[in-house]
Amino acid sequence: MIRITIDGIPLELEKPINLLEAAKLVGINIPNLCYSPELTPYGGCRLCLVEIEGRRMPVASCSRLAEDGMVVRTNTPQIREIRRELLNLLISNHPMDCLTCEKVGTCDLQRLCYEYGVTTPSYPYDPPDIPLDDQNPIMVRDQSKCIKCGKCVRVCREIQVSNVLEHVGRGFSSTVTTAGDRPISRDFCRMCGQCVAICPTGALTNKEFAGYRPWELKKVRTTCPFCGTGCTFDLNVDVKNNRVVGVTACEDAPINGTQLCVKGRFHTDFISSEERLTTPLIKKDGEFVPASWNEAINLIATRFGEIKAKHGANAFSGLSSARCTNEDNYTFQKFMRAVIGTNNVDHCART
Ligand code: FES
Repeated sequence: MIRITIDGIPLELEKPINLLEAAKLVGINIPNLCYSPELTPYGGCRLCLVEIEGRRMPVASCSRLAEDGMVVRTNTPQIREIRRELLNLLISNHPMDCLTCEKVGTCDLQRLCYEYGVTTPSYPYDPPDIPLDDQNPIMVRDQSKCIKCGKCVRVCREIQVSNVLEHVGRGFSSTVTTAGDRPISRDFCRMCGQCVAICPTGALTNKEFAGYRPWELKKVRTTCPFCGTGCTFDLNVDVKNNRVVGVTACEDAPINGTQLCVKGRFHTDFISSEERLTTPLIKKDGEFVPASWNEAINLIATRFGEIKAKHGANAFSGLSSARCTNEDNYTFQKFMRAVIGTNNVDHCART
């Protein structure tokens, strides 16, 4: 057992974990901009600094493992002052256009500046001369808003294994960009959107959400309909126009965490598609005609009855889908066996 104390709260750990995660276990959220539990700690932003009794200098809690006997303080006046100065440095190299930034309300930098009372940068801002990259279908890349946290680089490398982005340069002229500094395009990027979802500022923004403020959207938790994995995410609904704007991942999703595939993340637009079937169609005189559900189900039941009477139950076979829930699939096989009377039932994911 590893016994530590965080802000006076004793904690026992069965195995060493980093101090940032240990603090979460006792309900303390240490501020951070470059940490994600799904990625290798990077130790770049230094906002997660904490004091450890007996050590002269503060340490980055994201990269420091808990050791038996540690006494940790996460929110002393000195630590808060360091965090304030770090935030001051970050906004000194950041455009202050929060009023019109697409990330307003969901920007971690903005949230932390508010929390620590950092309102105006103390140092002059020298805007970089980097054009906006919006030549792809899913994201806008504004490198002037990049805080070099490296989350996009690591998620692309460690989760997607695509290696599309990399840190380039040093100091104020360092940036995160693609090989050859080309605009992001389908030629070398899978457009999965993981980098957009993990970016803590307005450096990478999802085009689907452009023009919406987060408080205008209602989040509805749902299960992805595209395959049988059962990933969970939030649909963001524009309630005024009854339209799904886009998808955001949720950290507490039991199967996928914050990870989503390209279909789940970007293709729920079918929900409001004009081409979507919203009523049954029955073919009459060679033409599909809209019908009520009662009419359609009655027709199917009658035809099934006729076929069964003439050819027997084994004239039927049923194929179910991985896109359905377990409950749907259970009901389907039950229907085939108990109602139709055949064991000819299979599932598209089996082969
Ligand atoms: Fe630890 Fe950024 S979260 S250094």
